[in-house]
Amino acid sequence: MNNMNDIIEEIKSRNDIVDIISSYIQVKSAGLNYKALCPFHSEKTPSFSISTQKQMYKCFGCGEGGDVINFVMKMENIDFMEALEFLAQKSGVEINKGKISDESKENINKKQKLYQINLDAARYFFKSMSDLNNTGYKYLKNRGLDNKVIKYFGLGYSRNDWHDLNNYLLKKGYDQQNLIDAGLAIQTKNKKNYINRFRNRVMFPIFDHRGKVIAFGGRVLDESLPKYLNSSETILFNKRKNLYGLNFAKKNIKNDTLIIVEGYMDVISLFQYGIKNVVASLGTALTIEQAKLIKKYANKVIVAYDNDEAGVKATLKAVEILNGVSLSVKVLNLGKSKDPDEYIRTEGLDKFNISLKNAIPLIQFKINILKQKYNLNNDQDRLLFTKKVANTIKNIKSPIEVEYYVNKISKETDISIQAINSEIYGKYYKANKNQKEIKQQIEEIKIKKNGIEIAEKQIIHIFLNESKYRSDILMNLDIDDFLLKESKEILNYIIKSNELDIITIDKLKNLGISEEYIQDIYNINIDSNVNLNDIIKTLQKNSLKRKRDYLLKRQHELQQKKQNDKNIEASEVDRELLDIAMKIIRLEKEMKNIL
Ligand code: CTP
Ligand code: MN
Repeated sequence: MNNMNDIIEEIKSRNDIVDIISSYIQVKSAGLNYKALCPFHSEKTPSFSISTQKQMYKCFGCGEGGDVINFVMKMENIDFMEALEFLAQKSGVEINKGKISDESKENINKKQKLYQINLDAARYFFKSMSDLNNTGYKYLKNRGLDNKVIKYFGLGYSRNDWHDLNNYLLKKGYDQQNLIDAGLAIQTKNKKNYINRFRNRVMFPIFDHRGKVIAFGGRVLDESLPKYLNSSETILFNKRKNLYGLNFAKKNIKNDTLIIVEGYMDVISLFQYGIKNVVASLGTALTIEQAKLIKKYANKVIVAYDNDEAGVKATLKAVEILNGVSLSVKVLNLGKSKDPDEYIRTEGLDKFNISLKNAIPLIQFKINILKQKYNLNNDQDRLLFTKKVANTIKNIKSPIEVEYYVNKISKETDISIQAINSEIYGKYYKANKNQKEIKQQIEEIKIKKNGIEIAEKQIIHIFLNESKYRSDILMNLDIDDFLLKESKEILNYIIKSNELDIITIDKLKNLGISEEYIQDIYNINIDSNVNLNDIIKTLQKNSLKRKRDYLLKRQHELQQKKQNDKNIEASEVDRELLDIAMKIIRLEKEMKNIL
């Protein structure tokens, strides 16, 4: 390790700022950033913000800010070196009294060396292509890439030569073993000689999320195989944990969304057209590690894999994995094009943007695939199609979503809703709930509403009497999460006035809170079984439920409107209906996540 900066960089890259801060205080995700109540000054509404992209924090209340090391310094009240040691230890690097242990040093040193080798190699490949007559350059030009994008992505060419790069790097002072470890050189079978791994290929440097070159992908210039050759796995490069293009995409997130494609060319070509929030999973099946990486930067994903059988299979798997880390996922419809690269070249940017806007949920994607297999003008086919779709719909957990698709398929096939439902639920399907069931439901709702009011009053009781819990409550609940106008008024007052003391009955009366409510608050039963967390969750759940019920109402209105008004634009209404259905599903997922 030649440089203190390298140590600092290494340790920072191993300690994600959100992970570290959330081990001290409660943080809440807010879009791409995180929010929290500032630990450095007293406040009631969170003005402390953490940026995952910048790996920095900033409090807009007190002005405190910095990186992960500054945070630990402040929090632990220690100096810079101590904070560095503290974080080093946390992430398995051993440093002691300002010195890194020999083993860790060797490890970090080696990594630094491999980064440098990769960078030198990338420059060499780029330079090898500088001649306009170079076959690699001609190939990239032929594929429609302009000089700017070639340079931006650092594309290059590996000459048709067994030794040039290897010798060049040896001359620069690297050991042969370094070049093997970097995945750029290989030992010949007879063990007597060392040769370049890449020959006569266009070279795509693979960057990590910080923009450091960690590996290469090399493409043949013709139809020979293997089409792509990648660097071997090295201590820098683990294909499963990396996403090509993330270093660029993370600075260009749009609508909280990342687009995920299969290949290098898809990323680069979309970039050239101005679509820059794109990453590639590098042809492998998407891994959980990659999904988690995406989740660090965006909450929504659009999958735009190749339009062939392998791509469709990969899409189905990817969606499952992405859903598994609570990303909201849609699938891009590529029409007749074989991949996003071809699509944007043949159809253009505007059409691509429209397709992005109209990206579809997984179920619709599955239905579309089925549609291609059957001829819906043929009775026999239509029946088979409906049976298959019913089978797919069966797996949907949300009843609202089921209803949406049943309606849609019924219209498209002219098969009755009743019949499709029987196909889904079996022959015991009942079209209407009987009166008794409905009555029972109403009764349940009444009891629940009562329960919520009690929970709400319990929380206000705790809120008024125990100021130490106030920040917990405010972090987890918004005013909208409360039902009663008195509760809202009390919360509003406390947030605005920064009141730290116990709130007396007189104060409440001055706020115009009714006697009855005050009585309830003070008499409410809070025995040892009542757990603040449980009450908070009850309120959160109920608030989500109210939002969902509102959407259900809107959904019903739209469906009515669609039936009654023949003049309205059906596709617009359909889009809103689908949007509502998706929102409802998301709310229901959130509800389930509150255990
Ligand atoms: N891939 C790979 N090794 C292969 C084939 C593919 O690593 N032998 C990876 C590459 O990252 C490639 C991606 O899988 O970019 C998608 O493969 P494919 O669709 O075949 O390539 P394209 O990116 O479409 O490349 P091109 O347009 O140059 O044919
Ligand atoms: Mn492809």
